[in-house]
Amino acid sequence: MKDVEFESLLQPWIGRIRDEELREKVVGVFEAALERSGYRKAGQFRKMPFTLLTDCRGVTFLEHTLAVTAGAVGLAQAQSSHYAKMPYRIDMDRLIAAGLLHDVGKILEIEPDGKGGYRKSRSGMCLRHPLSGLALAAEAGLPEEVLNGIGCHAREGEGVPKPVETVLIHQADYATFDPLVMMQKGSLIS
Ligand SMILES: [Fe+2]
Repeated sequence: MKDVEFESLLQPWIGRIRDEELREKVVGVFEAALERSGYRKAGQFRKMPFTLLTDCRGVTFLEHTLAVTAGAVGLAQAQSSHYAKMPYRIDMDRLIAAGLLHDVGKILEIEPDGKGGYRKSRSGMCLRHPLSGLALAAEAGLPEEVLNGIGCHAREGEGVPKPVETVLIHQADYATFDPLVMMQKGSLIS
């Protein structure tokens, strides 16, 4: 699709992946997702909300993706800069790659409804975004640790083994989602 250049839409984070092959694979997964999706116009895609489960109040999928990646990186830096000795190693390339890709399946899960809004697609009914995103990334040859970040970042990952990068993405993801849900329920104190 013209006008959707993931290499620039995913900045600054895509540029911080040091491994060139990994960087190219991440961009390739976004391109493949958009290619197979119900989006035919760049504007429709750019405005896509990041979830249909609550009112996003204008926060788009792309904004959410970048904010979650930034949040996960912040959590990693918070630990590495304040612990005298890190108890585990955090792989920043994998953290950023999985942060950017954690919701890529939503490009298949959410589609334009033809009336200016968005709805769950048939693909989304068959496979929730952690599963469809995992399948797309596996096809592109992403490492298994990154696949875990996609497949296990939400409730599918409850109680299952995870690398630390997935844990950080999960927490950053819920930190952006929960306040909106609470707002909708009237339980977010302003
Ligand atoms: Fe997310």
